[in-house]
Amino acid sequence: MPAAVLVPAAGRGERLGPGAPKALRALAGEPLLVHAVRALAAAPSVGLVVVAAPADAVEQVRALLAGVVGTTALEVVAGAGDRQGSVTAALAAVPAEVDVVLVHDAARPLVPVALVEAVVAAVRSGAPAVVPGVPLSDTVKRVDADGVVVETPERAHLRAVQTPQGFAADVLRAAHAAAGGGPVATDDAGLVERLGHPVRVVPGSPDALKVTHPLDLVLAEAVLAGRRG
Ligand code: C5P
Repeated sequence: MPAAVLVPAAGRGERLGPGAPKALRALAGEPLLVHAVRALAAAPSVGLVVVAAPADAVEQVRALLAGVVGTTALEVVAGAGDRQGSVTAALAAVPAEVDVVLVHDAARPLVPVALVEAVVAAVRSGAPAVVPGVPLSDTVKRVDADGVVVETPERAHLRAVQTPQGFAADVLRAAHAAAGGGPVATDDAGLVERLGHPVRVVPGSPDALKVTHPLDLVLAEAVLAGRRG
């Protein structure tokens, strides 16, 4: 049974400045979402992509992606007011027989196909939850509400976590059901951790960078130009 990938793409992208919803902003002339879905659909182990689109752009997104997915099945649903809700909405569109579900942010348009395959393989080898992670360059400090440092975790033990995150489908369903609709975590592994399941980290990729601020778009353009030679 091929894996399904949920793509939350309903964010406004306010940190990127004024304009269209983030997933529809252009990178090298095409929306971020088109790049992301093209990469996911190119992964041999992926059979279904479910996009959670801005509620007022569901038809627009369906039309935009129709020619991008090839033989991979595509569903487009309306997203919600927060990322977790958008993932919950997309998860409801996954058939019960699908056993592996990935979640990938539309805001990571240049995810390598090899990373998608590595995450699926790690779930299929028995891990209930898998996240790509990369070591940090910066030292990270935890601060209190007044901006005073509370602690400095040892950097060697920290990972910046990316998507796609992969899950045994029943584990992801249970995690979203337990969250009960309120936003309680900024990623899906965070919900699974709350249920006490182990989450395995596999090596992430610099190309899976998240487009959040304007400088990230400049970097993504450079990565793409490098690939195109
Ligand atoms: O806001 P942030 O950059 O962390 O969003 C991560 C992903 O979640 C993006 O792909 C964004 O479109 C998506 N999102 C969503 N629904 C929301 C907010 C964010 O699908 N309400």
